[in-house]
Amino acid sequence: MVLIDVKNVTKKFVLKKEKNVTLKEKLIYRGKEKSEEFWALKDVSCQIEAGKTVGLIGKNGSGKSTLLKLMTRIMYPTNGSIKIQGRVSSLLELGAGFHTDFTGMENIYMNASILGLTKKEIDQKLQSIIEFSELEEFINNPLRSYSSGMYMRLAFSVAINVNPDILLIDEVLSVGDTSFQKKCINKLKELKRQGKTIVIVSHDNHTMEILCDEVIWLNKGKIVKSGNSKVVINEYLDFMAEEDGIRLNNQKQQQNDESEIENDEVQLSNEEEKNRWGNREIELTNLKLYNDKAQEIYYFTSGEKVRFKINYLMHKNNEDVVFGIAINTIDGIKCYGTNTEIDNIKVEKLSSKGTVYIDIDSLNLIEGSYLIDIAVHKLDGTAYDYQVGKYSFQVKSNVHDVGICKLKHEWIIQ
Ligand SMILES: Nc1ncnc2c1ncn2[C@@H]1O[C@H](COP(=O)(O)OP(=O)(O)OP(=O)(O)O)[C@@H](O)[C@H]1O
Ligand SMILES: [Mg+2]
Repeated sequence: MVLIDVKNVTKKFVLKKEKNVTLKEKLIYRGKEKSEEFWALKDVSCQIEAGKTVGLIGKNGSGKSTLLKLMTRIMYPTNGSIKIQGRVSSLLELGAGFHTDFTGMENIYMNASILGLTKKEIDQKLQSIIEFSELEEFINNPLRSYSSGMYMRLAFSVAINVNPDILLIDEVLSVGDTSFQKKCINKLKELKRQGKTIVIVSHDNHTMEILCDEVIWLNKGKIVKSGNSKVVINEYLDFMAEEDGIRLNNQKQQQNDESEIENDEVQLSNEEEKNRWGNREIELTNLKLYNDKAQEIYYFTSGEKVRFKINYLMHKNNEDVVFGIAINTIDGIKCYGTNTEIDNIKVEKLSSKGTVYIDIDSLNLIEGSYLIDIAVHKLDGTAYDYQVGKYSFQVKSNVHDVGICKLKHEWIIQ
């Protein structure tokens, strides 16, 4: 049975521009307010079945909260229709339905009555609402003295205790501390087992994957893909990693362009000194990254095979040569570094122009952005060409482990 039926929904917002202030503007725009239309949702259709937990994912501003607000009926679509069957309880952004001048207790009564409970029903549920929120000590204090985490605890406790058929939750869980987050997730799993229908928005892909039966991916107000959580989340992560890669490269390009435009000799030489040094008797001309299909690529899935390809030019013959490489996190922590000397590789008879390959069988890094150092130097460390952090790549992973590298492991629980 379909509980939420969204048909060809569009939502237009009219953004009012600043008022016409000058006489000229007043004359030109007479009678017309300066305004701009913005389509937050464009022809969105989806059906949410009874008993399903469905996640909405997508970048900031993609329309997730707007869709949820339309489902809650605190706003209405510009075109299209939304049909809902059952009692809805929602937990939208913090603050909605709460009053800071009243106490936690008073807010429970106000909020639960907005969600459709009678005073008697609230009396019965009061204890479990307070208990779940763990706010016993603070429940008679005004809400204005609450932290945002405490606020969320109260709102979540009310929303789940009013016994709704449909629970709509916008990215609020992230406000709580980790122990309360866990408690919320367990509670949502329990509600799921009881057959409740849940629509949840979150940027925590891991939680979405474990909680949701289906995921809907929104981008620029349109549904890109919906269906099996793992499949859709993976594709979304792919898309994000690619965008991040492009963004990071663009940023770097822009930085390079800017320093070229400035053409300030002092600054350039400072930059050079900081990020590149050496006598350039051997010069590293570029670095490219490839996957195992020999495609040039700068975003990888954790554990994937990677090939680094460094091109060099030898301007002056040298026999004493070591090539090196290092991978660093964006905040400068070295994840791994090695060179031909450490690895006992003899570098002999280099041509005047050539290529060095470094193949990594399994890129065991966690999700994130990384910077690469490449170097060619003498055995005693004297640099021919040392380049720090000039190149970058991204790693994506649907496992949310932490640290600076991925250690192969196994759990044994007895
Ligand atoms: N009341 C409003 N007036 C004008 N524009 C709005 C309004 N509400 C949302 N928008 C615009 O609609 C777009 C979608 O917003 P929405 O809040 O739905 O995004 P979201 O997917 O929830 O993003 P986030 O991940 O940042 O929460 C945004 O560009 C936003 O600026
Ligand atoms: Mg939002």
